Amino acid sequence: MESIWKKTCDSEKRPALKDHIQAEAVVIGAGMTGILTAWQLEQAGVRTVVLEADRIGSGQTGNTTAKITLQHGMFCSALIEKKGEETARKYVQANQAAVEEYKRIVREEKIDCDLTERDACVYSGDREKLRRETEAARKLGIEALLKEQIELPVSCAGAVCVPGQVQFHPLKFVRALSECLNVYEDTRVTEVEPNLVTTACGSVHAGKIVFASHFPFVNFPGMYFARMHQERSYVIALEHAGELHGMYIGDGKDTLSFRQYGPYLLLGGQAHRTGENREGGCYDRLKEAAKQMYPESRPAACWSAQDCMTSDGLPFIGGYAADCPDWYVAAGFQKWGMSFAMVSAMLLKDLICGNENPCAEVFAPSRFSSGEIPQLMKEGGKAVKGLTKRFFHLPAETDASLKRGHGAVVETPQGKAGVYKTEEGNICQVDIVCPHMGCELAWNPEERSWDCPCHGSRFDYEGNLLDGPAQEGIWQKSTDIS
Ligand code: FES
Repeated sequence: MESIWKKTCDSEKRPALKDHIQAEAVVIGAGMTGILTAWQLEQAGVRTVVLEADRIGSGQTGNTTAKITLQHGMFCSALIEKKGEETARKYVQANQAAVEEYKRIVREEKIDCDLTERDACVYSGDREKLRRETEAARKLGIEALLKEQIELPVSCAGAVCVPGQVQFHPLKFVRALSECLNVYEDTRVTEVEPNLVTTACGSVHAGKIVFASHFPFVNFPGMYFARMHQERSYVIALEHAGELHGMYIGDGKDTLSFRQYGPYLLLGGQAHRTGENREGGCYDRLKEAAKQMYPESRPAACWSAQDCMTSDGLPFIGGYAADCPDWYVAAGFQKWGMSFAMVSAMLLKDLICGNENPCAEVFAPSRFSSGEIPQLMKEGGKAVKGLTKRFFHLPAETDASLKRGHGAVVETPQGKAGVYKTEEGNICQVDIVCPHMGCELAWNPEERSWDCPCHGSRFDYEGNLLDGPAQEGIWQKSTDIS
């Protein structure tokens, strides 16, 4: 299940860090956010090192749909209502500046990354909602157009469209941009101290430390685990589905996302909280929707993405915590990772260089509003449920009842274990306790992984770490199954 981006872009491997070095800034994570931040810092004359646990762009950057847009769904009216017009305008301006900065970099650095300008549209069946959203968007300075007819084979009353947005090949872009940067791959960070980042075989002493690792993995200070959860969503690349000219997203729950890449139409959807897996297959449902809309189409690739969702719907970009003045963070981009990666890079560069930035307060992680309380309580409730499940939930399966190609939590003489029975009938048994903060993991049949419902860490069926905030795998148990 490799994305179309990973299938069509390779790069030479960079060496791992095997030394003790110094830099003015160190960035943890070489996804889009980390590479853009390092690039912006280097342009500003700040000597920067990037540490990546895997390969450049191998995380969520390689799994995105790669739309770069200030159009974040039906967001203008909701944002004005929730945060006020001034904050909403700054949010829009930051994202518009991010779109323009991508265009500028691609043009000036001559990066071959299939960047094309498109309208970004949100469609809905509610005509009145579309009218209100168009009005709110214009109030915020967006040249929004209300279109009654769109090219998608969906039933709707129209769409709010924003011209001049872009789509691209994210890995071609990020790998080209990283060529001039000092990046160490296969270098997982094991410890972070005020001005020191330690890895398995080396360390970086730096004046500033930027956490750009998707989910900030230092729990205290910051407590980002209490203010975010993660969601999975699924994408299929369709051949023979015709050609789309715009980028689209639907309004409401169970929405679909559309864009074109070369001969492929990328169809996304079926989002759900990580660790809360639905009955039936997400990919199957997406393929069924594709068949109904595009009967001639055929899936050529499919993949999934993981997004950090914050309690107030805005990302955290800025100082990590009050008592760590040299630490910075960029996380919680909701479903808009590409545009917020650039917003983060521009804002963090300004903060680190001591420049004024009008959006600093809007995205500051230190912000708090009473409107967040219900969501925070919900997150707390989910965490308590995940923790107590370990003690009070009795497994329904035994290894004997488990079918080949399936996994489940089973009871063993030593307690609960996670068991996957391979297609060949071999048993793969792992610890079921999440190493992040101890919640019980859930089997994800779609992707044959163990997923944590509390904060979204994921592990393959052999226990290897797939997604944080956990920083280590769950290990195979050697005990016998009852
Ligand atoms: Fe936090 Fe699992 S990700 S407990």
